Amino acid sequence: MSLDALFKPFEFKSLKLPNRVVMAPMTRSFSPGGVATDEVAAYYRRRAENQVGLIVTEGTGVARPASLNDANVPRFHGEKELAAWKKVVDEVHAAGGLIAPQLWHVGSAKGPAQLGKVDSPSGISKAGGEPFTEPMTDADIADTIAAFGQAAGDAKRLGFDAVELHGAHGYLIDQFFWAGTNIRTDKWGGPTIGERARFAAEILKAVRAAVGPDYPVIIRLSQWKQQDYTARNASTPRELEAWLQPLADAGADIFHCSQRRFWEPEFEGSDLNFAGWAKKLTGAPTITVGSVGLSGEFIAAFGGEGSQPASIDGLLERLERGEFDLVGVGRALLQDPEWVVKIREGRNDELKNFERAALGALY
Ligand SMILES: Cc1cc2nc3c(=O)[nH]c(=O)nc-3n(C[C@H](O)[C@H](O)[C@H](O)COP(=O)(O)O)c2cc1C
Repeated sequence: MSLDALFKPFEFKSLKLPNRVVMAPMTRSFSPGGVATDEVAAYYRRRAENQVGLIVTEGTGVARPASLNDANVPRFHGEKELAAWKKVVDEVHAAGGLIAPQLWHVGSAKGPAQLGKVDSPSGISKAGGEPFTEPMTDADIADTIAAFGQAAGDAKRLGFDAVELHGAHGYLIDQFFWAGTNIRTDKWGGPTIGERARFAAEILKAVRAAVGPDYPVIIRLSQWKQQDYTARNASTPRELEAWLQPLADAGADIFHCSQRRFWEPEFEGSDLNFAGWAKKLTGAPTITVGSVGLSGEFIAAFGGEGSQPASIDGLLERLERGEFDLVGVGRALLQDPEWVVKIREGRNDELKNFERAALGALY
């Protein structure tokens, strides 16, 4: 299979990528006290030196007391925290790479350490769950929207090339999307996905106001939740459109469509995957992700399952057809900073297995 589709440049607004490979955001928990270390900067730099088109950083917390649930995850507010991120940006740029932070709020998702009063739409963490905390007030919501806007403005000021919002996997923004965790009856909830998209749309407006019209804004979305792999925000293409269009109208440029296996069709009767449908319905560029170049998927990897290198021919066919524009690669790049170069040079025998031990180190 020709690799041309993967190594074709991609241009969008101010973003000019040399190829289609996006390093997927991966929480590493190597930033004690919420400050990214020099080792973290060097880890991203190695991916930039080895031809990753765009690096999306691990999720990094916006300025709300409970945006993170792990003291070793980097924050995206505070003087020393932002200075550490500036170092990351400078290292990546020095190596010729491009980088976007993934702005994150975990909402009511549990983690190693709860760092403040929980923010969540309805005080529950999964469908059918018992409320364990108060729902966010209007003031909490306004402050959270402002915190995302502030972080996006800071990202641009620090020199990041784009910004990504974490709207996936059952964390705060997705808790508003999901009927299972958003049972509000005010304007932040409602029976339709279009109504439950309001919180994300307001965040996008604040982000857009902070970064201006030409700065690329990516939003990551998923149907599945870490609380429930079978959950869905949209069961039909029509619902998907009702979910995505308000986000596009509010300022989202690129949809990063998270699946655990990129080849799985989103709806019956069509081969198109999530990113394929998002592109078809909105016309926006999209990023696919999920088990690219590996035999097993990532949730099983947390349980200790290793994965072997797998053919990317199916991915290349879809990319060539224009089903999506960009390709997110997670574990293959966590394990091996040289993954892109090896693929490009056909050094397939040098591709590495993904081993759980990689989660405990910054290769
Ligand atoms: C260690 C690890 C940490 C992750 N952390 C995040 C995260 O912070 N934000 C996010 O959106 N996805 C996160 N993910 C999901 C990845 O971005 C990606 O979607 C997933 O690993 C599937 O891609 P892969 O099969 O190429 O690994 C994480 C995955 C792994 C393996």
